[in-house]
Amino acid sequence: MVTSKIVTIERHILEQQQQFPHASGAFTGLMYDIALAAKIISQEVNRAGLEDILGETNEHNIYGERQQKLDLFADDIIFRINDHTGRLCVIASEENDDIVPIPDQFPTGNYVLLYDPLDGSSNIDVNVSIGTIFAVHRRISGQDRGTLKDVLQPASQLAAAGYVIYGSSTMMVYSTGQGVHGFTLDPRVGEFLLSHPNIRIPDKPMYYSANQGYEKYWTEGIKQYVAWLQGIHKDSIYSLSNRYIGSLVADFHRNLLRGGVFIYPGDLREPDKPYGKMRLMFEAQAMAFLVEQAGGYASDGVGSILSIQPHDLHQRVPLIIGSRDLVQKAEYFIRQTDAEWIEAYTAYRERRPADL
Ligand code: AHG
Ligand code: MN
Ligand code: MN
Repeated sequence: MVTSKIVTIERHILEQQQQFPHASGAFTGLMYDIALAAKIISQEVNRAGLEDILGETNEHNIYGERQQKLDLFADDIIFRINDHTGRLCVIASEENDDIVPIPDQFPTGNYVLLYDPLDGSSNIDVNVSIGTIFAVHRRISGQDRGTLKDVLQPASQLAAAGYVIYGSSTMMVYSTGQGVHGFTLDPRVGEFLLSHPNIRIPDKPMYYSANQGYEKYWTEGIKQYVAWLQGIHKDSIYSLSNRYIGSLVADFHRNLLRGGVFIYPGDLREPDKPYGKMRLMFEAQAMAFLVEQAGGYASDGVGSILSIQPHDLHQRVPLIIGSRDLVQKAEYFIRQTDAEWIEAYTAYRERRPADL
């Protein structure tokens, strides 16, 4: 007989918060609202391939609106679940150019929500795993409606972060700074149930994940590092397999459970853009917080992602994330070989926001 406890995400969040005697419950509610948004998005993602054949009958969804592109739908659902609850002072989404303060007619709260509503969205049409990424900061501006200052905080200050992966099952993985915990959605009852308590990234890595098609743009240090991972560098100690989906959430999730490293480096494609593709505020911060909570490390090639003081809402960042020793080895190769790139990138990393 199976004897393990059945723990819903709601109960788990409540129990974690009980360790903080002064917790108001606002944070617990916020996490639960994100889980609710995830369930609604999951339903819609599961039906994505039916849109064309169901046509007219599917023109309006249950929320009374015309069908939108899935990433805009996800963006809207997360916003509308969270804008009126009195828990947040400001929201920022990858889909919006600017921060969105809580509308005037609603009360505000102490938290700041950042999210990438659908990550890996180019994979939707081919039925490959995609995800949602979220991060929660505390208000620091003292302003009722929240400002850019509340949003542009380093990842070291995060109160919580997580992601949802819409894969063969839907899972939500989150941390409030007390380890990383994973929950699998039971679609029969609509509840996320604790399936992966206290996730630790394995010491022995299995995979590296990089878009090898861009090798031609990589710096010499990254080329050598990837050769080292592959087992063909003279100093190699591993011979890892390559796995690359092209959805950060899915690539990160696999490496978190199996051990490995995800690499989207700063490259030389455009000399005045030495920072790669990943978004600091909507992708890298949350994942860096999670990986450190699981015993791993996240770097931009120069130093910890957690320590970067953001200067722009849509700032890009090189991302090397996964098992700690593998990520540190990337920093080593870059330090040895990529002086020119380091100089160009550091100038970008050290930019300061104009008016905060
Ligand atoms: P998004 O769909 O939110 O724009 O993010 C896509 C990102 C990320 O999920 C993935 O790791 C990366 O783009 C893949 O980029 P390449 O196609 O350049 O490899
Ligand atoms: Mn993304
Ligand atoms: Mn996205």
